[in-house]
Amino acid sequence: LSPSAIRRPLLRWFDREARDLPWRRTRDPYAIWISEIMLQQTRVQAAAPYYERFVRRFPTVVALARARLDSVLKLWEGLGYYCRARNLHKAAQEIVTRFGGQLPETRSELLSLPGIGAYTAGAISSIAFGQREPLVDGNVTRVLCRVFRVRGNPKEAVVQKKLWSLAEELLPAARPGDFNQALMELGSEICLPKNPPCEVCPLRRTCLAKRHGEQNRLPARRRK
Ligand code: ADE
Repeated sequence: LSPSAIRRPLLRWFDREARDLPWRRTRDPYAIWISEIMLQQTRVQAAAPYYERFVRRFPTVVALARARLDSVLKLWEGLGYYCRARNLHKAAQEIVTRFGGQLPETRSELLSLPGIGAYTAGAISSIAFGQREPLVDGNVTRVLCRVFRVRGNPKEAVVQKKLWSLAEELLPAARPGDFNQALMELGSEICLPKNPPCEVCPLRRTCLAKRHGEQNRLPARRRK
């Protein structure tokens, strides 16, 4: 499959259909960081009001670094996975001491901060800084396993490696952040776990799972 056969229809679809989400109205790396941490374990609809409150109360890295931990935890109440809030607070302090209060732009520097793993580093560097860095989350896993008919269990390391390399090869040099968001959006809106509406999918002409009628069997759940 040629990358442009996927990039072009996917970005066109995203331009037409992208949801208007609060974190898509900003280019502030700090705000994008907060949104991506929230979205790791929380659905878009649930995260949105928390995101708005959080960036209003702590509008900058410095404001977050100076806040008391209990006020950060208080604002997180109801979102769960409180280690995310603790890591945010700790990372904000490190960003102040190690990076002068500005989020670092490179994947490796981002990875050195608490709470930022492979997914979040890819999200921040591509969406906030326009770098050609891939990301793979649950939604992207489903899309790629189907489009490329990847048959292994995505929990296995070899399959993960395959998915990250596919995500990297597909990424365009222009608009990598939009491309990554389009893959995630496709996974959450069209390429659903069960009975996806393939007739309306922008990738219906290239998707190998659809061609073979295997969209409900991929990604594989256990080893065969
Ligand atoms: N899930 C996590 N981050 C996202 C984003 N920026 N766009 C769409 N879905 C997401």
